[in-house]
Amino acid sequence: MSGGTVIRGEVAVPGDKSISHRAAMFAGLATGESRVRGFLHAEDTLRSVALMRALGARVEVIRPDELRVEGRGLRALSEPPDVIDAGNSGTTIRIGAGILAGQPFLSVVTGDPYLRRRPMGRVIRPLAEMGAEIRGRAGDTLPPLCIRGGSLKGIRHEMPVASAQVKSALLLAALFADSPVTVVEPLRSRDHTERMLSSMGAKVGRDGNAVTAAPAARLDPVDITVPGDISSAAFFLVLAAVRRGSSLTVRGVGVNPFRAGVVEVLRRMGADIRYEGERFSGGEPVADVLVRGEELAAASVAPGEIPGLIDEVPALCVAAAFASGRTEIRGAEELRVKESDRIGAMVSALSTLGVVCGEYPDGMWVEGPARFHPTGPCDSRGDHRIAMSLLVLGKAAGIPVKVNDTACIDTSFPGFQATLAGLSD
Ligand code: S3P
Repeated sequence: MSGGTVIRGEVAVPGDKSISHRAAMFAGLATGESRVRGFLHAEDTLRSVALMRALGARVEVIRPDELRVEGRGLRALSEPPDVIDAGNSGTTIRIGAGILAGQPFLSVVTGDPYLRRRPMGRVIRPLAEMGAEIRGRAGDTLPPLCIRGGSLKGIRHEMPVASAQVKSALLLAALFADSPVTVVEPLRSRDHTERMLSSMGAKVGRDGNAVTAAPAARLDPVDITVPGDISSAAFFLVLAAVRRGSSLTVRGVGVNPFRAGVVEVLRRMGADIRYEGERFSGGEPVADVLVRGEELAAASVAPGEIPGLIDEVPALCVAAAFASGRTEIRGAEELRVKESDRIGAMVSALSTLGVVCGEYPDGMWVEGPARFHPTGPCDSRGDHRIAMSLLVLGKAAGIPVKVNDTACIDTSFPGFQATLAGLSD
């Protein structure tokens, strides 16, 4: 491929979104003072901060990326005085539902128009089975959620879809139950909740795909540094990977094996990606990730790989547009119920840019290398990861890509556009 931008240098990404949500929420449940460094200060994670404040936890933002949290303990939270607004954040509402299900008071949680279209039955059903009174719109399937919790019993729940949010909600509800809760995952999803709860003294065990959490009297506070977000790093990894001559280091990225599937797929496409300085931070594996651009070839992404790269599929579609051959992604029907229908959103935007691609009910295919010829603006559909993927494509291809609605990027990566603009050789 000719044209486009050769990238050289280093970049840092903000703290991991999943881990930041959990740190804010779990610290609010601990007994004593927690410290969270490297916190992602973004719209989504601040929704979890607001949720814990509404329940009476004292959460101070002492620097944009640092929290001091005075937890209220597991059983001294107070009834929120008003409706809690989770904004665009699926993690806040779903994991939050697990906490609220254990509380002997009424909570109502809503969200923005995108969140109010996302499926909640998957978390409502098992929490109701545990004994919580929990209701949602549209026959208990959509937000707002109305929860009156307390008096929970342990269950064994076989999840029909792999979801770290649902798993986390049930493991948290287990802390308040009268006996353990076991969650069986069809495929293993990110395990940040298990790691963090264990570090706080909770009894969480795993047997194959089954995770069990026991009731708890208290949680110890945390003192953690959140790793950089691999989902944010993925945009820059793709940007450097698709252009021979590029070479980029992303420092301090979380490389949890249940999150780093994007690296495996890019390597399979021919990218040269290495981890250096491997270490642990906040109970999570971290590394500096070095990528060198190469001519890429198409790859297939199998259903079993999807949970490990679910949020990176839009970025991988961008890599696929530069790779020679047909990339196929299957078993990814969950993408239809993310912040947007990410299959429809990416196929439509890539088509607008002249990329030959198409949809399956459970995935997409992308033919590369594309000859880009934009025929109009692309629609992010209010989805941060779609917006960032398209801006990366524009930079990598050296073409102007106009994206409607880039404000949504602030849900996970404030400053993304400035970081992208600052990268060149
Ligand atoms: C997340 C889990 C995933 C992911 C989301 C964050 C989490 O969602 O897509 O962005 O923090 O647990 P599901 O639980 O729906 O798979």
